[in-house]
Amino acid sequence: MLDLIDKQKLPKHVAIIMDGNGRWAKERGKDRLFGHQHGVLSVRDVVEGSAEIGIQYLTLYAFSTENWNRPVSEVNGLMELLVSTIKKEAETLKKNGVRLYVIGDMESLPDYCVQELHEAMEITAGNDRLNLILALSYSSKWEITHATKKIAQKVKDNVLDIADINEEVFKQHLATAPFPDPELMIRTSGEHRISNFLLYQLAYAELYFTHTHWPDFRKENFFEAVLNYQNRERRFGKISEQLNQA
Ligand code: IPE
Ligand code: IPE
Ligand code: MG
Repeated sequence: MLDLIDKQKLPKHVAIIMDGNGRWAKERGKDRLFGHQHGVLSVRDVVEGSAEIGIQYLTLYAFSTENWNRPVSEVNGLMELLVSTIKKEAETLKKNGVRLYVIGDMESLPDYCVQELHEAMEITAGNDRLNLILALSYSSKWEITHATKKIAQKVKDNVLDIADINEEVFKQHLATAPFPDPELMIRTSGEHRISNFLLYQLAYAELYFTHTHWPDFRKENFFEAVLNYQNRERRFGKISEQLNQA
């Protein structure tokens, strides 16, 4: 699979909705947290695979704003898993040239989580091989509303003119300001929806859906998605014949 990937045609940024941990666990007669724990192994493998082929940005949807509505025991379990994983993996990320970022409403996360995340972001800040962006307590509607407020405040304070608001300015106020838009979005576990993830940034992304549950998704599955992406024609509103003209 790896040999088939064209290194000249890689997506710069891949975003993933890691879904299906609960169902994966249920199929095995285990509780949902067992699925989340196994999902961590997939995260490790896909991060490794991304760095291997030269993906520059990888965004992982780990916890949505809506996920706060799950049973308290699951939410707490997820937060603890997040902290223990970051603690365990931070040095490896550093060693492997991975830089960690977080997008989302960090203020809503427990303090012990925020502290651990800040430490990991700090120790990996010098890296530039792969930018790993965790979407935590994230939702697009939150992000867009937040960006709108920041822009409105600047207009009110006379530091920004309404006439100067354009797509680039808007992008600069999103949580993803430093990153290019994803060219490829993958969702595992057979659901065909976006679930409040990167609505603005996915405007022209190629969407890839697989029935594989997240805990079974490994770098080979990731390479397969990249290969599928490379065989698509991205027209951006044009017609096919225009694309091959010099
Ligand atoms: C994705 O798996 C992980 C998170 C949302 C945190 P789910 O927990 O949504 O698993 P399913 O969709 O119930 O199988
Ligand atoms: C989306 O998955 C959020 C994450 C993967 C973190 P969900 O499983 O929460 O999405 P819905 O609720 O089924 O749409
Ligand atoms: Mg789900």
